[in-house]
Amino acid sequence: MKQDMGQRESSPQNQDKTTRKSSEPATEFVTVYIMGKAHKVPAGSTIMGAIEYAGYQIKRGAGCREGFCGACATVYRLPGDFKIHTGLACTTLVQEGMWLAQLPAIPAKKAIYDLEKLQPTVETFQLLYPEIFRCVACATCTKACPQDLEVMDYIQAAKRGDIEMVMDLSFDCLCCGLCAIRCPAEIVQFNVGLLAKRLYGRYLNKKSQHLEERIKEIKAHKYDSEYEKLMKMSREELKKLYYERDME
Ligand code: SF4
Ligand code: SF4
Ligand code: FES
Repeated sequence: MKQDMGQRESSPQNQDKTTRKSSEPATEFVTVYIMGKAHKVPAGSTIMGAIEYAGYQIKRGAGCREGFCGACATVYRLPGDFKIHTGLACTTLVQEGMWLAQLPAIPAKKAIYDLEKLQPTVETFQLLYPEIFRCVACATCTKACPQDLEVMDYIQAAKRGDIEMVMDLSFDCLCCGLCAIRCPAEIVQFNVGLLAKRLYGRYLNKKSQHLEERIKEIKAHKYDSEYEKLMKMSREELKKLYYERDME
C-alpha cells in the first residue's frame, strides 16, 4: 500500500469512520498485525478502517475509499497460509490473525508516446510493451485482480493485436498495480490496457454521427442565445430546469 503512516490517538470520531457499520459501537473484535504489532480491531472493518482504528493516519495510498480509484493496493498474509494475498485496503475486510504489510508506491514501466503517431496494430504493442510476449500464461495477474478482471486474457489479446478485446476486458481496471507486482514476466498489465483504450478511442471507435452534427451546430452558434439565458439563471432556476428536463 502506498502510504505514510504516523501513529496518533484514535478518536471515537475516527473509530466511527473506520468500520463498515459505523453507526453502532463494535461488539466483536479480531486481532490483526500492523507493522508487526498486534491490534484489536472491530470485526467487519476494512483493512483501511482497521489501520485507522488502530491509530495510524493514512496520508497516502487512500483516495475514494470505495474501491474505485485503485490507490490503496495492499498485500497481506493469513495464519498458516504461505501465500501473499492482495486486495484493496478500502474494500477488503479484516480476518483474524491477518498480517498486514504496507508497500511503498508501485513502480511501473510506462511507455511515453504520441498517440497521433501510433497505429492501432499489434506492432504498437511490440514496440512499446515487448515484454507482453514473455507472458507465461500463469494467470497470477488474474488471481490478484481485485476487480475480477480477466487480466491474463487481455494480455493474450494484446499479443494478438485485438485492441477491442483488450479495451473491453480491461475497461474496469483501477490501475491499482496488484497484477503487475505478481507478474513473473514483469509486465505492467494496466498500462497495456490503457494503451489499448487510447488506441481504440482514437482510431477504432465508430464516430457518432449525432455528436458530429451537434458539434457543427454549436460551432455555427445555433445555441448561443440558449447559453446566454442559462448563464443568467439563478441556481434554483437551473435546478428546476434540470429536474424537469425531458429524459430520453
Ligand atoms: S487489472 Fe491490474 S491494475 Fe487493473 S484493477 Fe486488476 S489488478 Fe488492478
Ligand atoms: S502474471 Fe504475467 S506472466 Fe502470468 S499470465 Fe499474467 S501477464 Fe502473463
Ligand atoms: S481508496 Fe480508492 S480504491 Fe481504495
